[in-house]
Amino acid sequence: MTSTDVLFRPFSVGSMELANRIVMAPMTRSFAPAGIPGEAHAAYYQRRAEGGVGLILSEGTVIDRPASRNDPGVPFFHGDAALTGWKSVIDAVHDGGAKMGPQLWHTGALKSFQTEWVPDSPVESPSGLEAPGVERGVAMSDGYIADTIAAFARAASDAQRLGFDTIELHGAHGYLFDQFFWAATNQRTDRYGGATIRERSRFAAEVVAAVRASVGSDFPIILRLSQWKVQDFTVRLAETPDLMTDWLMPLVEAGVDVLHCSQRRFWEPEFPDIDGEEGLNFAGWAKKLTGAATISVGSVGLTGDFMGAFGGEGSSTAKLDKLVERMERNEFDLIAVGRSLISDPAWVEKVRLGDLAGLKGFDAAALAKLV
Ligand SMILES: Cc1cc2nc3c(=O)[nH]c(=O)nc-3n(C[C@H](O)[C@H](O)[C@H](O)COP(=O)(O)O)c2cc1C
Repeated sequence: MTSTDVLFRPFSVGSMELANRIVMAPMTRSFAPAGIPGEAHAAYYQRRAEGGVGLILSEGTVIDRPASRNDPGVPFFHGDAALTGWKSVIDAVHDGGAKMGPQLWHTGALKSFQTEWVPDSPVESPSGLEAPGVERGVAMSDGYIADTIAAFARAASDAQRLGFDTIELHGAHGYLFDQFFWAATNQRTDRYGGATIRERSRFAAEVVAAVRASVGSDFPIILRLSQWKVQDFTVRLAETPDLMTDWLMPLVEAGVDVLHCSQRRFWEPEFPDIDGEEGLNFAGWAKKLTGAATISVGSVGLTGDFMGAFGGEGSSTAKLDKLVERMERNEFDLIAVGRSLISDPAWVEKVRLGDLAGLKGFDAAALAKLV
């Protein structure tokens, strides 16, 4: 049996010290009526903290812009009532022994794939496009962009004030940041657009710099990124390592400490033409190219990838050997686990004790309740 000890080494970044390498992946649960997280959220996250997760990333929680969410069950990260709710969440997680950061989000022009709900104000994005050639909402003015950057910085300093240990900016999966990165949805001719990925990274870099200025030098900033988008799984923002450097380096220079490199299957090599079918994954390349710490993710302990969950698909358990091998090679620093932790709050403790036979698969029915 493979030893999983490598997952249980401590890790620190800036002011945050983690007991182990396991991160709860950010997962939207849509249980916050009126945008306010309640006791059920505190209990849900505390259970995972007590189950031994090192770092918990919250479900996406939205910044203070009129149309920043695409689902009425998504919690706000602004306003007294929501922030009071979040204060109970972080206190409960600390009582449970874990560290936590909220995932700060703006959905841009992308619709939810779970609800037809639309916000009262028009949705906003770089060029008023949800996908290539699909118009939705308005293109952001310079004033909207400045206000959005300021709202991210405010949310980050609120997180720090409430006692959170870090924040994650959601720059992945086709939402607002990614609508700037992606040439097909960013057709701006001003300083936020351009033919190169380096130019289209400017919006994200400005958000990161504003967040860094508001939280000081030691508070860790995590940025989640993906090549793939909900709009199109086959799109890649960086087809080569050089382009990946152009994309990521300005973000690290602006103040990102940890890149959270989202894949649907962590074992897939990013540039197999260069280092083969067992080659570095996205988090591996991101760490090698930028020197930043990285988090990998995608179907840990499970056979099927997560997008099927929204269509009711379950998944059975899979071995952890490939994960352990990659971590032993120091390919990336941390590993995020999503659905396995929805199914089983004690997942981490079972892995630590070597009770791999006790791990559960994922049943999509688990999404119906916040427990
Ligand atoms: C129900 C559900 C909701 C999700 N919501 C988010 C989200 O709010 N933000 C985000 O970055 N990723 C979200 N994801 C993606 C997860 O963070 C993770 O990357 C994905 O589930 C792969 O990990 P897994 O295979 O271990 O589940 C969600 C996934 C699921 C299953």
